[in-house]
Amino acid sequence: MNQTAAATGQPTPAQEQTFYDEIGGLPVIERIVSRFYAGVATDPVLGPMYPAEDLADGSAARRLTLFLAQYWGGPSTYSQERGHPRLRMRHAPFTVNREAAEHWLTHFRAGLDEAGLTPEQDAKFWGYATYAAQFMLNTPD
Ligand code: HEM
Repeated sequence: MNQTAAATGQPTPAQEQTFYDEIGGLPVIERIVSRFYAGVATDPVLGPMYPAEDLADGSAARRLTLFLAQYWGGPSTYSQERGHPRLRMRHAPFTVNREAAEHWLTHFRAGLDEAGLTPEQDAKFWGYATYAAQFMLNTPD
């Protein structure tokens, strides 16, 4: 460890590990999102909201996968392809009420359950998902 790192307690660059790396990177996020969209596709509230072709060809799954990868410190491919996330704005065309958010979170929970995360990792990922789902609400019940 170099002097500065020792003095500040900060990790040296070689020791830095993102949450993305810690949970297993892209394959793990792909597994979560794949289970999530399997649920969305058959969901009575969410299924009709998502363009059928985007569900069928995997492009919706790809966008969420790349967004989550970037959010947790992985590659910034999402922003290279889609620009700034601006997620509230991108959800404005859809009716995101409490029911929709609950359904969304139910499928995301199922995805996380398949990811094999530690309890701490799971709590961190789930905490973000529940926070983000509240943030996306744009329609009262
Ligand atoms: C709360 C309920 C939610 C509903 C009903 C909902 C619904 C939708 C729909 C219908 C789309 C358009 C289809 C698509 O382009 O994939 C979409 C896109 C997207 N959603 Fe959600 N969403 C919700 C919450 C969230 C949350 C919590 C996140 C992030 C943690 C998220 C991240 C995304 C992303 C990254 C996209 C693609 C944006 C783009 O690049 O165009 N969504 N969502």
